[in-house]
Amino acid sequence: MKQKSCYILAIESSCDDTAAAILRNDEVLSNIIATQDIHKSYGGVVPELASRAHQQNIIPVVDQALKKAGVYKKELNAIAYTRGPGLLGSLLVGTSFAKSLSMGLQIPLIDVNHMQAHLLAHFIKDENPIPEFPFLGVTVSGGHTQLVLVKDYFDFELIGTTLDDAIGEAFDKCGKILGLGYPAGPIIDKNAQNGNPLAFSFPIPKAPGLNVSYSGFKTNVINFIHKNTQKDAHFLDSNLNDLCASIQHTLIEIIYQKIEKAVDLYQVPRIVLGGGVSANSGLRNKLKNKESEKSWEVFLPPFALTTDNAAMIGIVGYLKYLQKDYGSIKEAASARLKF
Ligand code: KG4
Ligand code: ZN
Repeated sequence: MKQKSCYILAIESSCDDTAAAILRNDEVLSNIIATQDIHKSYGGVVPELASRAHQQNIIPVVDQALKKAGVYKKELNAIAYTRGPGLLGSLLVGTSFAKSLSMGLQIPLIDVNHMQAHLLAHFIKDENPIPEFPFLGVTVSGGHTQLVLVKDYFDFELIGTTLDDAIGEAFDKCGKILGLGYPAGPIIDKNAQNGNPLAFSFPIPKAPGLNVSYSGFKTNVINFIHKNTQKDAHFLDSNLNDLCASIQHTLIEIIYQKIEKAVDLYQVPRIVLGGGVSANSGLRNKLKNKESEKSWEVFLPPFALTTDNAAMIGIVGYLKYLQKDYGSIKEAASARLKF
């Protein structure tokens, strides 16, 4: 029997991207993102400005998503939105919008955990293979660095996390020291491709179990640059690509060592990557190379689904819709939402 089509509007506003997507079942019909350039001049996300920009962007972004998909509001079956984790002022804009529209249209409202969505994005129907359970989820972004044992769609166990900075934050902070723009992750990645990853060596910070630590690394980089620019004022310019390659190499090595440990400990040779830093070519290549070397299965997200987007919120919305796992307008946005 042919399955009836279900149309979901998904809304994401957890940080500095205002995003809306329309899904027909597990297929993405439109995926619109308004990136907030205002934060570039501050070298990081300013929460109050992010929340104001979401208010300006949300209606045009939703409107565009509906038009691009060729779907009318009255055809929607449910609205999925990011409940958390994220910046509270940002989350409140998407949450309030989703609640009001679901009441107005009298259709189910589905709350989504942003971190689950980064990993469940792999279940979107496209040309890429879909992972089987269980798998080791590796979520690497500007706000999080998590190792998660995923046994089923909604059976997530956090087994490792950063004790301080997230890996994306470390990329961005090191980039700031190197005088690069914000966000620095993609710029470091680009420069690293023309540099030697072993040109400079930085120690790997210690952290217990499957946890990682990134803040000490950033301090090491500051001290190293300071020491060398005192000796040679052109040190940064003449070594930029090698510095980017060496910094990237160490940032990846820190999380890689814990991925390897988690695979052995939990016997899960199936790795699923998600989050903004999963766009990093060094990390992608390193993990892909391990497929043949270690007989791992590695699932990398398509580039469009690496950074924050609403399509990933939509697929979780669809999976919950199938289970009739609806939310309620009484549920508040939660900056520290857990699995
Ligand atoms: O998932 P995301 O869009 O937002 C958060 O939830 O944080 O991730 C943004 C982070 C930023 O820190 C950015 O520098 C990093 O992802 N990023 C990268 C690359 N592309 C984005 N880091 C390293 N290499 C990249 N190619
Ligand atoms: Zn994210």
